[in-house]
Amino acid sequence: MAALRARRTLPKLADAGAPLLVVEDLRTYFKLEGATVKAVDGISFRLDDGESLGIVGESGCGKTTAALSLIRLLPANAWVAGGSVRLYGIDLMTKTEETIRRYRWREISLVFQGAMNALNPVQRIEDQIAEPIVERLGKEHDEAVARAGDLLELVGIPRARGRAYPHQLSGGMRQRAMIAMALACDPAIVIGDEPTTALDVMVQAQILSLLERLRRELGLSLILITHDLSVVAETCDRVLVMYAGRVAEEGPVERVFAAPRHPYTRLLMGAFPDIASGRRTLEVIPGTPPDLRNPPPGCRFAPRCPAAMDICREMVPPEVRFDDGVRVACHLLPPGSPGSVLATDGADTGSMASAAARPAAAGTQDGQVRSSAEGSR
Ligand SMILES: Nc1ncnc2c1ncn2[C@@H]1O[C@H](COP(=O)(O)OP(=O)(O)OP(=O)(O)O)[C@@H](O)[C@H]1O
Ligand SMILES: [Mg+2]
Repeated sequence: MAALRARRTLPKLADAGAPLLVVEDLRTYFKLEGATVKAVDGISFRLDDGESLGIVGESGCGKTTAALSLIRLLPANAWVAGGSVRLYGIDLMTKTEETIRRYRWREISLVFQGAMNALNPVQRIEDQIAEPIVERLGKEHDEAVARAGDLLELVGIPRARGRAYPHQLSGGMRQRAMIAMALACDPAIVIGDEPTTALDVMVQAQILSLLERLRRELGLSLILITHDLSVVAETCDRVLVMYAGRVAEEGPVERVFAAPRHPYTRLLMGAFPDIASGRRTLEVIPGTPPDLRNPPPGCRFAPRCPAAMDICREMVPPEVRFDDGVRVACHLLPPGSPGSVLATDGADTGSMASAAARPAAAGTQDGQVRSSAEGSR
């Protein structure tokens, strides 16, 4: 399979020593009926080469918006209001639309929910996969079709089926074809936004194991957005728990799932069926996520949090990093909590060093101007 991995050439301006992807304080807002929806409001994370990051959180918490912001594939009423997205050290947010287009598919590609229905019904599968290879990589048509055949085989579709039109393939096969298309230009990062939601359970499992295999064999880095925590537990290295446009908790999957620290992570896990434990009653998280046109001040989870204190309703909790690589934004775990590590300015102190390095800054959002020292009790 290694032959399929076209030799990765870094973009011209790449810093070879920089991490693959570093997102810092990303903010993406929508204009909606005169109001501003703060769908993504200051999220930071890092993705290293070959790593897979799961993004979880209830519906409407900004997962898709965050993913689309990375390659600025946003609806017309949305804009990136701040922050940076650095790919190999190159800040994509400062790029023009024309330049960023060169990075889509070529560096970061996206497989979205129901993507299989986005295939062109009147074009043969192999030609659709060949198209970006011709357009983005400048290959001849015949060579591109040959590579499309290789990619189809890679995702488990016989090469000859490439002659088929989309309606002649099953849903699972079409989603595989979309994955082949996402791989066409040999991107560094593939984002799967609920890539299996529209499929039956067996096919879901097959597609997920396909993604996992591709990651291993091609050395891909993966961002997987899903509601299925067990999928994250099985396939991801790190997990980012989003709530109402912000990061509640982020860290290595085994650490976060074994000992969730944010009350939201705990409740989210309690709301998920755990077949192994045979538990039948699921805990429901009372209430609903806030209206992001007018989110509550302080911690956005406070109105639903069983452990909320007065400070939670007043001040945005700073993100505190722990020595096991987990980052948590919760007033129950203020800076200086056991196991937390002091802020440093090092960019190489594990994922999210930068966010953890600025707890005071995180605590001054939404006009809640206070120092982190005041915030810690
Ligand atoms: N085109 C739009 N115009 C205005 N608001 C939008 C638009 N798209 C999304 N939003 C709002 O942005 C917020 C985040 O939405 P987003 O789709 O990113 O959430 P999500 O976490 O992906 O949810 P889901 O799990 O349902 O896919 C929501 O409050 C949503 O209502
Ligand atoms: Mg979504």
